[in-house]
Amino acid sequence: MNILLIGSGGREHALAWKLTKSPLCNKLFIAPGNAGTAFCGTNLPIAVTDFDALATACTNNEIGMIIVGPEEPLVKGICDYFKGKKGYENIKVIGPSKAASQLEGSKAFAKAFMKKHGVPTAAYAQFDAASYLEGVEYIKQQPLPIVLKADGLAAGKGVLICQTHIEAIAEFDLMLNQSKFGDAGKKVVIEEFLTGIELSIFVLTDGKNYVLLPEAKDYKRVGQADTGLNTGGMGAVSPLPFADAAFLQKVKEKIIEPTISGLQIDNLDYRGFIFFGLMNDEGEPKVIEYNCRLGDPETEVVIPRIKNDLVELLLATVDKKLQGISIQTDERTVATVVAVSGGYPGDYEKGKPIKGLEEKDLQGKMIFHSGTKISEAGIVTNGGRVLAVTAYGNNITDAVNQSNNLLSFINFEKMYHRPDIGYEFTGM
Ligand code: AMP
Ligand code: GLY
Repeated sequence: MNILLIGSGGREHALAWKLTKSPLCNKLFIAPGNAGTAFCGTNLPIAVTDFDALATACTNNEIGMIIVGPEEPLVKGICDYFKGKKGYENIKVIGPSKAASQLEGSKAFAKAFMKKHGVPTAAYAQFDAASYLEGVEYIKQQPLPIVLKADGLAAGKGVLICQTHIEAIAEFDLMLNQSKFGDAGKKVVIEEFLTGIELSIFVLTDGKNYVLLPEAKDYKRVGQADTGLNTGGMGAVSPLPFADAAFLQKVKEKIIEPTISGLQIDNLDYRGFIFFGLMNDEGEPKVIEYNCRLGDPETEVVIPRIKNDLVELLLATVDKKLQGISIQTDERTVATVVAVSGGYPGDYEKGKPIKGLEEKDLQGKMIFHSGTKISEAGIVTNGGRVLAVTAYGNNITDAVNQSNNLLSFINFEKMYHRPDIGYEFTGM
């Protein structure tokens, strides 16, 4: 089967790397891809939301399956588009329907869904411009800190944790009355602040059955020891020592199963990955957010730990045959350390030649590309997050050391990385 993978990040390079290992994958195309995915298949210069151009590429390349990496095409309805397009109905598209993607596309929708189906999450209220004054009164009564969330997709910037009531009211005003996040902020969710350790849980579901994938922890802050600005993710590790059998059993019973039965009760067609952003509050899991896709950089540590044939798993997902399938997990630890452009998550430059990618001995290590492209000067930087340098190890310390060691052979102007990924487990 020929496969079209949509996206251009480290997540997509890790997926492409895994897909090439499947005998069921004939030709692989990636739209638009990056310099790394070009080693796994053919990159097509098509934007992830240009559905008509993607459809033409499907015809030209006899595509049988589409795997959607990022949220934007899902929330814009790529699955419904192909299902409803004459002549394309038989393409197997991995991802939730437009309606089900609202679990990520609208925080108000996700909160109402969790409330209705009894999924543990932070207490909340939602407001819009019409209920602005009520919202201000509500904020004044909340304990600190207060979490404000723009309802819609805001490129990872729509969550604000406010330390004072004055700051919360000012931000609330900016969102609702001054379009701080454009349409995404027309509704605002105000949420209780949760404490504990964050982790990311992933499942693949056919809408009825599910398989649990390896868990991961993502390091979002730019600075060492989780300081500084939020980023898309500076590194990740899997597995996590605290996610033991008892905790994962609670996650299944209290979070995953009510979510999947909720999808059925609400008639939401979901055949794809669900990413549960969780808080572990002294052994009790609560949902911080749902995402309708895999995480980045979590995918770069989750995918290398899955031994199953990925295409086989995805076919069972679309065909609603996940029942009885079990995930074979590599027991080793995997860590990824992200090399970013200097200045990220603020302004940064692109087009810097990357040296050291020709490192030969990659046994047990993978260099997944994020923001890279092929130019006349060779492979150059093309984004904030540039490479996810990934390694297997016997434990977190070993895997992070191996990743950092490989990264020490790689260089581009103003390259930056966090050397302390996994720090709370490694004592670094
Ligand atoms: P998001 O953009 O939804 O991924 O949220 C960004 C980050 O904000 C999360 O990874 C958490 O660290 C934090 N966050 C979001 N909601 C809460 C909450 N209710 N309590 C504490 N932290 C939160
Ligand atoms: N690493 C978090 C995300 O993909 O949203």
